[in-house]
This record gives sequence, structure tokens and C-alpha cells, in this order.
Amino acid sequence: MSEQSFNGKVVIITGSSSGTGQAAAILFAKSGASVTIHGRSEEGLQKTMQMLSEAGISKEKVHSVKGAVTEESILKALIDETVSKFGRIDVLINNVGISNKEGETNSRSIENLDYIWNVNVRR
Ligand SMILES: NC(=O)c1ccc[n+]([C@@H]2O[C@H](COP(=O)([O-])OP(=O)(O)OC[C@H]3O[C@@H](n4cnc5c(N)ncnc54)[C@H](OP(=O)(O)O)[C@@H]3O)[C@@H](O)[C@H]2O)c1
Repeated sequence: MSEQSFNGKVVIITGSSSGTGQAAAILFAKSGASVTIHGRSEEGLQKTMQMLSEAGISKEKVHSVKGAVTEESILKALIDETVSKFGRIDVLINNVGISNKEGETNSRSIENLDYIWNVNVRR
């Protein structure tokens, strides 16, 4: 099966500082897309940048947004900065997802449930 081309397309991948999102960002970029990568970890974002560079992707085709999806300003930055840098948005991979709040000792607490709902469903 031939690989689909994303030449000229613009893709936002939330949570691409590790895991599935990171792998997706590299695949989309290798398929020709300009990508906006995202996460909270500077180290993770640098790692994704490095992997993109090693895959031969030029810096002009990558934009990085750092911050929590629970912050409205970060969601706005993802959209505004992508449009400002690449002129359009074709695909949003809403990949951020968690099964527990970091550091939460009581996974059954209502605070934990609210946080998970906010990150996984509302955002
Ligand atoms: N792995 C599996 O087996 C599996 C199976 C089914 C579904 N999924 C789903 O696939 C998605 C990715 O899973 P994964 O295993 O690749 O997870 P992962 O390695 O833990 O990656 C999660 C990503 O989301 C980011 N993230 C988490 N909370 C965030 C927040 N509040 N604000 C901003 N970014 C946040 C993390 O960035 P930072 O750490 O930099 O903040 C990271 O880039 C999730 O939605 C998960 O539910 C995974």
C-alpha cells in the first residue's frame, strides 16, 4: 500500500513531546506535512525536534507550542501560531490523554475525575 502524501498540509498534534503523538508528528512530517508539535515538557519537545531533524525535516516545517491543555491561552496559541506560521490548518490530532493526574494519590477522588474529564474530554 502506498503511503499517503501530506505535502502542503498543516497538522497540529497535541501531546507530541512523547509516545504516540511524537511518533505521529514524525510520520506526518515525513509524509510532507508542516507540523505544530506540543506538550509541557521542554525536554520532550526538544527530543521531538531532534527526531524530526534526524528524519531530515527542516526547521521551517516545524512549530512548537509548550503548555498545558487546561490553559485556554495554550489552546489559542496552538491555533493562532499555527495559522500565523503556516497559513492554514488541515488536520488536528487531539492526542493528549491521561489516565490519572500526575502525583495524585487517590485516583478515585472527585478532583482527579474532574481533572481527567477536563484534559481528556473538554479539551
Ligand atoms: N499507549 C497506549 O497503549 C494507548 C492506548 C489507547 C489510547 N491511548 C491514548 O493515546 C494518547 C497518547 O498516549 P501515549 O501512550 O502516547 O501517552 P504519553 O506517552 O503519556 O503522552 C501523552 C502526551 O500528552 C501530553 N500531555 C499530557 N497531559 C497534558 C496536559 N495536561 N497538557 C498538555 N500536554 C499533556 C504529554 O506531554 P508532556 O508530558 O510534555 O506534558 C505527552 O506528550 C492518549 O490520549 C492515550 O489515552 C494510548
